[in-house]
Amino acid sequence: MKKYILMLGSFLIVFFAVGQQVDNQLNLLPEPVKSIRTKGYFKINKNISIEAPNVISLQPTLQFLKQRLSIPTGYKVSINNQASLASIKLLLNKQADPLIGKEGYHLSVTPSNVILRANEAAGLFYGVQSLMQLLPAAIEDNKLASNMAWEIPCVEITDYPRFGWRGLMFDVSRHFFTKQEVKDFIDQMARYKFNLLHWHLTDDEGWRIEIKSLPALTTKGSKRVDKTGYFGTFWPPLPDEPLNYGGFYTQEDIKEVVQYAKEHFVDILPEIDVPGHSLAAIVAYPELSGTPGSENYRVRSGEKIMDWRTNGTFSALVNNTLSPSNEKVYTFLDKVFTEVAALFPFEYIHVGGDECAKNFWEKNDDVKLLMKKEGLNSMNEVQAYFEKRVGKIISSKGKKLIGWDEILEGGLADNAAVMSWRGEKGGIEAAKLKHEVVMSPTTFAYLDFMQGDEIIEPKVYASLRLNKTYEFEPVPAGVDPKYIKGGQANIWTEQITNTRHLQYMTWPRSFAIAESVWSPKEKKNWNNFVQRVEQQFKRFDIREINYARSMYDPIFTCTNNNGEPLISLSSEVEGLDIYYSFDNSFPDRFYPKYSNPLTPPKDAVLFRTIVYKGNQPIGRMITLPIVEINKRTGIKKPAQPEE
Ligand code: ACM
Repeated sequence: MKKYILMLGSFLIVFFAVGQQVDNQLNLLPEPVKSIRTKGYFKINKNISIEAPNVISLQPTLQFLKQRLSIPTGYKVSINNQASLASIKLLLNKQADPLIGKEGYHLSVTPSNVILRANEAAGLFYGVQSLMQLLPAAIEDNKLASNMAWEIPCVEITDYPRFGWRGLMFDVSRHFFTKQEVKDFIDQMARYKFNLLHWHLTDDEGWRIEIKSLPALTTKGSKRVDKTGYFGTFWPPLPDEPLNYGGFYTQEDIKEVVQYAKEHFVDILPEIDVPGHSLAAIVAYPELSGTPGSENYRVRSGEKIMDWRTNGTFSALVNNTLSPSNEKVYTFLDKVFTEVAALFPFEYIHVGGDECAKNFWEKNDDVKLLMKKEGLNSMNEVQAYFEKRVGKIISSKGKKLIGWDEILEGGLADNAAVMSWRGEKGGIEAAKLKHEVVMSPTTFAYLDFMQGDEIIEPKVYASLRLNKTYEFEPVPAGVDPKYIKGGQANIWTEQITNTRHLQYMTWPRSFAIAESVWSPKEKKNWNNFVQRVEQQFKRFDIREINYARSMYDPIFTCTNNNGEPLISLSSEVEGLDIYYSFDNSFPDRFYPKYSNPLTPPKDAVLFRTIVYKGNQPIGRMITLPIVEINKRTGIKKPAQPEE
C-alpha cells in the first residue's frame, strides 16, 4: 500500500510539474529579456476598448491591433486617445525608462487589464507583436474563428533588444520581387522584431531602382532573358533571345516601400553594389567599364561570367567592373547616390565592394597610370582608392558608407562601416581598427544555403542548417562589443525565383537570427527554441506563409567501414523517430525504427526514411540511392546487373 501511495505521490508531482511547465511556456519568439508567468488569464471582452496615445507613427500599429482583435473574434474594437477605463492600454512613458531604451517595452497582463508601456512608439509596436504571440494562433486568421477562448495568459514582461541593427538582406536583382512582395517580406520580418531591411538593388543580373538622371539603368539594365533551371549553369543567351525577364522600382514605388517599412519600424539600407557586380550598369553605360565597345554586354541571365577557383581566387570572364581610373565613373556614382540619398532616410548607404575581379583592371593602361599617379602598389590598393572616393561622394550626400568586408583590403576609408560576410575575420579586423561592424557571416547567416540534405533540398552550393544558424553570435570572441552594431542574415536569390520559395528559405532560419540579435545571449536555448518555432509554424499555416520543415529531416552521415558503406542518422530536433526501408517501398511507423548505424543489404538500391513525432509523420520522405551513399563514402562498387 505504502508503495502505491508513494507511486501516486510521484505521479502527482510529475503531473503538476509538467502541467505547470506547459502553462508557463509563453512561446514568445524572440525570447524576451524577462518574463514571469503570473496566475490566470485576461479574457477578452466582446466590446474591446483600447486606450492609446494619439501619435501619428503609432496609427498603423493600432490599425493592425484593431484588425487582429476584431476579424477572427468578431468582436467590436474601439480605440480611445483619452485616459479612460479601457482594459487594454498602450502608454508612452512620460519619463523615459533607460532600461528599455527606444525599442523596449513593459507588458503587464493581469485578469483585469493589459498594460503596455514604452518610451517610444517603436517599443509599443514590439509590445503589440508580443501580445499577438500570447493570444491563440487563431488571432492570425483572416476570417471568423469560432469556438475560441480569446484569452491572454497573465504575464509581466520587460523586454528590449540586444542590438540596434537586426537585419535581413533581400536580393531583388538576381530575381525580381514586386513592390507588394517586398512589403509582405517587411511585414513578416517586423513581426519578429527585425528592424532593418538591407535591399540589394543592383547586381550583374539587373538594376532595380529608377535613377531619373540615368534612365538607361532601368530601360536597359533591368532586363534579361528568362531562364529556368540551376542558375549559374545556363547556356549564354543567343543574340535574338527576347529580354523577357525583369522589373524595377520607380521612385514612387521606393517611396511607398520606405513608408511601409517606417510604419513597421523598419529602416531600409539600399545597396548599390560597385565596383564589381556591375554588369547591369555597364549594359546601360558601357563607357563606365575599362573596356567599352570591346564586348557586347548583356545583363546576366544566369550564364557563367566568373571563374571561381578552389583556392579562393577568381577572375571575371566578362568585365563586370566599373573602371577605377575613369572620372566618368565618379560622376555617374555622384548622380546615383544623389538620388538614392534623397529616397532613403536611413543614415547609411551600402556600396557593395564584394568580389570585385581585378583581371580587367590589371590589363588596363589607365589603371596603371592611376597607380603611378596615386602611388598605389596593388590591385587591392586600387580598390581602396575607389572606395575612398565613393566614401567622399556618400558623405557629400550626408550619409555614412557601409560595404562588404573586401573594402578593408588595401586600406579602409575613414568612418566606413564594415559588413563581415566571409566569416568573422573582416568584422574582427574592422572592430580592432575602431570601425563599426555588422556581422553576417556565411557560416551562420547565409539563408540562400541549403537547410537540409542536398538529396532533397533545391540545389545550392553550400549548406546551413537551422541549428547552426541558431548558434549565430554577433560579437566575435575578443572584440569590443561597442563596435558591433548588430547582425543580419542574407538572402541571395540566384536560386530563389518566387515568393513561396523565398519564404521557404527565410523561415524558420530567420527565427534563429531574430533571437540571436534580439534576445540576451544567456537566454538562448535550442530545445526551447524548437518548441517555440513549432508554435510559429501554426501561425504561418494560418497566415499561409511557407516555411521549411527541414529541421525534422534526418542528417545522413555516410562513412567507409572497411570497404562497406555505413549510414548513421541523427536529428537536429530531439524526440523524433526515424523509420526506414531498403526494399524500395515507402516506410511508415510500422517499418524498422533507426537505432544504430546501418549497412545497406548487398543488393539494395534505395534507402528511404520518414520521421515521426509520436504517431504523426512530421518530416518528408527522403530517398537516398545507394549509389549516392557509396559516392559520399568514396566507395566504388560495380553497377547493379541489368534486369
Ligand atoms: C557576398 O556574399 N558576395 C557579399
